[in-house]
Amino acid sequence: MKALVLSGGSGTRLRPFSYSMPKQLIPIANKPVLAHVLENIRAIGVTEIGVIVGDRVNQIQAVIGDGSALGVQVTYIQQDSPDGLAACVALARPFLGDDDFVMYLGDNMLPDGIEDIAAEFAAHRPSAQVVVHKAADPRSFGVAELDVDGRVERLVEKPSQPKSDLAVTGVYFFTSVVHEAVTAIEPSARGELEITDAIQWLVARGDEVKASVYDGYWKDTGRVEDVLECNRRLLDGLRTDILGEVDAASVLTGEVVVEAGARVIGSRIDGPAVIAAGSVIEDSHIGPHTSIGGDCVLTGADIGYSIVLDGATITEVRGLHASIIGRAASVGPSSIGEPRRRLFIGDHTRVEVAA
Ligand code: G1P
Repeated sequence: MKALVLSGGSGTRLRPFSYSMPKQLIPIANKPVLAHVLENIRAIGVTEIGVIVGDRVNQIQAVIGDGSALGVQVTYIQQDSPDGLAACVALARPFLGDDDFVMYLGDNMLPDGIEDIAAEFAAHRPSAQVVVHKAADPRSFGVAELDVDGRVERLVEKPSQPKSDLAVTGVYFFTSVVHEAVTAIEPSARGELEITDAIQWLVARGDEVKASVYDGYWKDTGRVEDVLECNRRLLDGLRTDILGEVDAASVLTGEVVVEAGARVIGSRIDGPAVIAAGSVIEDSHIGPHTSIGGDCVLTGADIGYSIVLDGATITEVRGLHASIIGRAASVGPSSIGEPRRRLFIGDHTRVEVAA
């Protein structure tokens, strides 16, 4: 069995971050979403992984490389235009051959693992097996309608009036018959070859298409709120590990990771929180549920339930909450005299300040 990971796409809902980095590299608990995805695939014993990439290929390669650091073997497959998920399957045909495969959207987090579901697929090998998750409001996802035996009768993409509460997650298992389906279907109204249509084609032909319910935590990290929420969830599993320097004037509570080469001076850190290598935290309050990337400098900062990316600086700003601070961004006091505020913010950036 092989894996196909989709890591193209523009990530418009994750602007401004997605302007400068592929959304699949957004760090969750200080590790890129895509690395979490590859680890989940490794955990089901699949190591031959094709990764579909768009024009951000260089950044992805710089972080993931050939996959060996994660125990997998990555083959990059370049996609020139985003023609839909089923088009990705067609593009990957030379890599996939006639093998069974798991297709995994590179922005999906299923931290509780998909081992049971993969075993179920391997045992029965239906033409297709979608992984679904009960959602109170599945309108922003594909929705599966099942018969009493758990077979898929219909998949509807982002229905305004869902007929079931089963959202289709970004994980799908296929045998090689899916290649017939992706060549048979026509582009949808939005001009893309939809995987939903390919699966629906198999259902209409009478193939066995199954759904497995994943009961664990699932997040499509498409929006900043999802990224923060997922970060909180992953940090809840953190275990204390202090390899960096923490001075006697600092107080750490809860589960805190201070990586080697990080320094904490005169600060309070309420875990779960992680401080990556090279960062300096001084006279600050961090946490809970906060990830600080590498080479950041926080001085007189107070920040909780947030993610700070590599190289960012926060100086004398308190009360930061539910925030994501981009790479090498700087947040600090007004240089033109309070109460004036000065902003140099990029396109589609969002700033929320007290009135
Ligand atoms: C895609 C699929 C959708 C699925 C979702 C899961 O949507 O089209 O069926 O529910 O991924 O993350 P997208 O996130 O690309 O809008």
